[in-house]
Amino acid sequence: MSKMLAMIVPNAGGRLRLEERDLPAPGHHEVRIRVHACGVCHSDSVTVEGHVPGLSYPRVPGHEVIGVIDALGSDVEGWEIGARVGVGWFGGSCGYCGHCRRGAAFACENIHSVTGVTRDGGYATHMLALTSALARVPETLDPVESAPLLCAGITTFNALRHCGATPGDLVAIHGVGGLGHLGIQFAARQGFRTVAVNRGHDKEALARSLGAHDYIDSEAVDPAQALQAMGGARAIIATVTSAAAMQAVSGGLGVDGTMMVIGAVGALTVNSMDLLGKRAAVRGWYSGTSADSEDTLAFSQLNAIASMNEIFPFEEAQAAYDRMMSGKARFRVVLKMENS
Ligand SMILES: NC(=O)c1ccc[n+]([C@@H]2O[C@H](COP(=O)([O-])OP(=O)(O)OC[C@H]3O[C@@H](n4cnc5c(N)ncnc54)[C@H](OP(=O)(O)O)[C@@H]3O)[C@@H](O)[C@H]2O)c1
Ligand SMILES: [Zn+2]
Repeated sequence: MSKMLAMIVPNAGGRLRLEERDLPAPGHHEVRIRVHACGVCHSDSVTVEGHVPGLSYPRVPGHEVIGVIDALGSDVEGWEIGARVGVGWFGGSCGYCGHCRRGAAFACENIHSVTGVTRDGGYATHMLALTSALARVPETLDPVESAPLLCAGITTFNALRHCGATPGDLVAIHGVGGLGHLGIQFAARQGFRTVAVNRGHDKEALARSLGAHDYIDSEAVDPAQALQAMGGARAIIATVTSAAAMQAVSGGLGVDGTMMVIGAVGALTVNSMDLLGKRAAVRGWYSGTSADSEDTLAFSQLNAIASMNEIFPFEEAQAAYDRMMSGKARFRVVLKMENS
């Protein structure tokens, strides 16, 4: 077989379109992956809608990929054909710039390697990936069910383990969407007193069943006051897609509390009085490296943490994307390739 299929974004704001392409040969330090499944993340809107200026098109989105290596490029060591691998937002490190060496690969100026944004991603039967972007995926994990762990999972898992809270502390998971429903499971299993915050009551029962000890309906009560009434949050993991909603909850931080900003919401206003008297902080967080992905997979397997998914055939990527953007998916949308 010398051809592959990809769902491409032809231009910023364009609709996804099926395209047949020649199978690409992997280059230096690269492998080719036969994709089994790819999750659909809100961040795919960066590519589909063209939120970042200067992106080049056509582009294949998708940064929650699980598949198997089916070809090796030059100078590839430690990876073999048939290995099950995952690729997330982190598209690999150049190995020499200061950003990469400090783990902030998203900001790398040298290879601009963001999966599905600056290089083609997993809405395809095959894709290329740098070896530094690869996470080894245990054979016992179902590739379709586990694909969301490569972004929704790693991002919340990693934000939680870097948020400064220790077991027993009050931690709020703000947003019960693709990221939030995994964040609740990770927070509860990491030993935090876990409170889910979302608008309305629709998702309360599910949030509790995922491990939330408490639930705050941000439409029924002031969420900042509600968190203060619980003692103030040591951390808020803010996964919502609305700046106004994030602002409304930021006053819920307790002493030495940190709001980990995960949702890409643009400008955010925070009241300095909510921060200075409590030494509180607002901090951004991006997903993590391929090693962080492996940690996420291992922790998920150990603690039976699973993404709840709606599965779509890969050719229906536009419908899958629309479903994710509607906010009605429970909770993650995953594209499944025919060969998986
Ligand atoms: N930093 C990173 O590394 C990283 C990684 C992955 C994703 N992200 C970003 O994280 C965000 C969440 O992604 P996702 O895939 O989890 O999205 P999602 O599944 O669409 O979930 C969005 C959540 O935001 C809530 N929300 C939306 N509009 C709201 C409003 N006006 N007021 C209050 N709540 C509102 C939704 O509440 P309802 O349930 O009421 O609709 C839902 O809980 C996106 O911005 C995405 O780009 C960042
Ligand atoms: Zn993502």
